[in-house]
Amino acid sequence: MSAPTILVDPARVIDDVDPRIYSGFTEHMGRCIYGGLYEPDNQHGLADPKTGFRTDVMDVLKELKIPLVRYPGGNFVSSYRWQDGIGPKELRPRRPELAWLNEESNQFGTDEFIDWCRELGTEPYLCLNMGTGTLEDALGWVEYCNSSANTYYANLRRKNGHEQPHNVKYWSLGNEVWGPWQVGQMESQDYAKKAYQWAKALRLLDASIKIIACGETGYADWDRVVLKKLAPVVDYHSIHIYTVSEGKHEVNVMGPAAAEKAINITKSLIDLAKIENDLSKDLTICFDEWNVWDPVRAPGEDGAEEKYDLSDALAVASWLNVFVRKADVVKIACIAQSVNVISPIITSPEGLFRQTTYYPLHLFTNLMRGASLDVYVTTPTPDDAYTGTTVPSFVQKLTTTAPDAEKLTKFVDVSAVFDAQASEVRVAIVNRHAEKAYEVPIKFGADTKVPGEVKVYEVWSESLKDSNTFGQDKVKTVEKSLKWEGTYELKAHSFQVFKVEV
Ligand code: AHR
Repeated sequence: MSAPTILVDPARVIDDVDPRIYSGFTEHMGRCIYGGLYEPDNQHGLADPKTGFRTDVMDVLKELKIPLVRYPGGNFVSSYRWQDGIGPKELRPRRPELAWLNEESNQFGTDEFIDWCRELGTEPYLCLNMGTGTLEDALGWVEYCNSSANTYYANLRRKNGHEQPHNVKYWSLGNEVWGPWQVGQMESQDYAKKAYQWAKALRLLDASIKIIACGETGYADWDRVVLKKLAPVVDYHSIHIYTVSEGKHEVNVMGPAAAEKAINITKSLIDLAKIENDLSKDLTICFDEWNVWDPVRAPGEDGAEEKYDLSDALAVASWLNVFVRKADVVKIACIAQSVNVISPIITSPEGLFRQTTYYPLHLFTNLMRGASLDVYVTTPTPDDAYTGTTVPSFVQKLTTTAPDAEKLTKFVDVSAVFDAQASEVRVAIVNRHAEKAYEVPIKFGADTKVPGEVKVYEVWSESLKDSNTFGQDKVKTVEKSLKWEGTYELKAHSFQVFKVEV
């Protein structure tokens, strides 16, 4: 039986990979902020005495070269008064917190977040409260962050020790406003009308900001309605999807097929909205929440601390393959979230460990930058694609047409980039099959000379259930060099990035 063949041609460029697809998200939720990235009373010497930021968390996040971080929610933002989180800490009010039914101390707020971003070397992205918040609050926040005028909130920022504006470029108009769990849920038409007016006003205050509209999954009627109305006044349409394993490996790793299909649909909705509004501007997708998350296994109210295994790492690698393949339309993607909450890193007061999902993320952000290539994977037998009926219902719904299903649910899942600076092709390959190894030919295009040696970075372990814990990374990246002979044996349930000089 012949195996799938991977065809990679450096000449077949889709678009540049936008580094912002490797962005993060920190919400006031569970132990993401408090006890995660911020722990001023840490007894083990792990907090910077001046800022209270966890230095070990900072170091590991730096390894992930995160270009942008979204804050402060998520659902949290929909009842958040940003004004509570600035100024002298002893004067900041404690408030009831309605998203995760908690109390908010407000000891970490806007200025702390910006300082943290600057130290991390990342761009801040703030989400506005469209639940309990007013347009006046939103304008006040933009003024506080970005204004250099002699006006109230700009002066308040100066008084709080920040002479220079924070220059926050990215602002989004609410979070999941469509969701029944959201404080201030709205109908699509109502949201679109309100968000339109907000966008107009925000731009009057600061014409340089980039505005992100609140979309749904990318394939909902909400997305169509919102895009049609907001296309003229926003820069990005946001979508959120989490994939769920339902306890089955195949379901877990094929989940990102739903995201790929959703992106294709959103792209068409964007085109339609641009035609309807007679626009030629840039309008792209900000996929600002994505990950593997089973909210029954790890409920939000309990801090959503998922313990990820190898199967989840392969799902995350498949997610990232989707974003690289969709480089022409997905310009920002934020893994939800960055610390403790459904996160690639888990902390305790004594330290932290890297979850299985950290490793593919680390490989992608470090290696999968450059021009995204239009890879072709042959699927010689129907068995090489997973179109079984146990695919989660949302994937099934989105991939019912046969060509889509076969294309999006191949066991061998691939993306590739050409890094012109390094003159390297890098190919990210997930073998999503639980048991089957594949000896795959990798063909590099007619004009491409491949040297005798290639580098491979592999994430693999005996069992799909293997996971990491403090002091023990069972699942991690192993680096190897090998003599290139035209084919590579993909172990069952493995992820690897190939690095080839061309
Ligand atoms: O990331 C966890 C939560 O998931 C976010 O707060 C919300 O936006 C989504 O429902």
